[in-house]
Amino acid sequence: MLKKIATSSLKPGMYVANITQHGLSLHEHEREGRIKDQTTIQSLIKRGIKELYIDTDLGVDSPDAITLEASEKKLDTKIKDIAQTSEPERDVKSTSLSKELGKATKLHSEALDLVNNAMSSVKSGQSVDISPFEDMADNFMDSVVRNQNALACLSRIRKKDDYLMEHSVNVAVLMSILGKYLKLERAYLHQCVTGALLHDIGKILIPDRVLHKPDKLTEEEYDIMKRHATYSQKILQRNARFSQVSINVAAQHHERLDGKGYPLGLKGDEISKEARMASVADIYDAITADRVYHKGMTPSNALKRMMEWCGPHLDTHYVHSFIKAIGVYPVGSFVKLSNDKGAVVIEKNPDTLKPHVKVIYDFKTQSHTHVSVLNLSLEHCQERITQVLDPNDYGIKLKDFML
Ligand SMILES: [Fe+2]
Repeated sequence: MLKKIATSSLKPGMYVANITQHGLSLHEHEREGRIKDQTTIQSLIKRGIKELYIDTDLGVDSPDAITLEASEKKLDTKIKDIAQTSEPERDVKSTSLSKELGKATKLHSEALDLVNNAMSSVKSGQSVDISPFEDMADNFMDSVVRNQNALACLSRIRKKDDYLMEHSVNVAVLMSILGKYLKLERAYLHQCVTGALLHDIGKILIPDRVLHKPDKLTEEEYDIMKRHATYSQKILQRNARFSQVSINVAAQHHERLDGKGYPLGLKGDEISKEARMASVADIYDAITADRVYHKGMTPSNALKRMMEWCGPHLDTHYVHSFIKAIGVYPVGSFVKLSNDKGAVVIEKNPDTLKPHVKVIYDFKTQSHTHVSVLNLSLEHCQERITQVLDPNDYGIKLKDFML
C-alpha cells in the first residue's frame, strides 16, 4: 500500500516509491527503492524534501506513515484553512457575471488570435509587436477587476488541439487574478501579464517532432523542449520595448526554488517574484489541461498537488495567495451537493467554500436535471458542497454548462 511519510520519519528498510504525475515528479527523487542506510535519509532531508511516499508492500511500514486517503483529507483541510484567512473585501465585483461574459468572450478569442499570429510571425523570422499585447494585458486586468469569474470560466473551456495558445492566454488570466488578489501595483502587474501572454512563445521554435509528440518525451527530447524558455527570452529581448519584468516571466518560469529548474538552475531569491508567480499559474494550467498523453486533474486535485510542491519547487506565499485568489472550489469545478445533486462552480463568493453553482445533475437518478443557479452563500440556502468529482466519470461535458 502506498503511504505518505515525513522524510524525517524515514527508516532504513522502507521502500520509497517514485510517483510521477503528468511528467512532473512529485518530489524529484527520481529513483525508487529500499532505503539502505541513514546517509540516504540525510541526503533526502538535505535536498529539502519534506515528505515522500513509501510502498508498504515492498518495505517496512511505520505508524508515522498515513494512507493516501488520509493525506488527501489533510491537504483538503489545509487548503480550506488557507482560503478562509482571505479578506472578503478583496472580492468586490463591479459587474455581474452574465454582463462581463460577453466582453470576456470577445477578449479571450482576440487573445488566442493574437498569440497565434505572434507565433506565426516568430516562425517566419519576424519580431513580436508589443503594442497589441500591452493592450490585451490592460483589457485582461480590467475584466478581472470587474468580475474575474468571466475570464476564469472561459479559461476552463478548452479545445484539445489548441493547447499552446490556450495555455498562454490562461496563464495571463491566472496571473491577472493572482495579481489582483495581491494588490500588485498596476504598472508592474501589466508587465507580468504581458510576459505571461508570451511566456511560451519560444515553443514555436521547438521542432514539431518534439513539440507535438503524443507520448512522454525521452531525456534527449526533454532537453530540446527545455530550450523554449531561453528562446522566449531571446524573442522578447529582440524588441527593446519589452520590460525586464516581462522578459523574466518568459526566461524564468521553469526555474524552481531548490535550483532544480531550468534553464539556469536559479535558486530562491535569484528567481524574480514575477517568475515565481508565473510558475504557479503555469503549473496550475498545465496540470488541469487534458493532453493527448494525460487527462487533466480536477482544479481541486491540482491545488493539492501544488500544496505538496510548496517549498522545494513553488513559492509557498504565492501558492497560498493563488488558492485565496481562485478559491477552494475554482470556477469549473464539478461538485456534489448535500442534496445529492451535481453542480458546476460558476462564480467565486467572498466565502470561497460557498460559491455560485449551476445545478446540472442528479446522483440519485444518475441523469441530468433541470438546470438552475444556486448561490450557496445565501443565508436561506441549506445546500453545501460535500465532494469534488471528475465530471468525465459521469459523462458530463462541463463546457456545455459553463456559459
Ligand atoms: Fe513553459
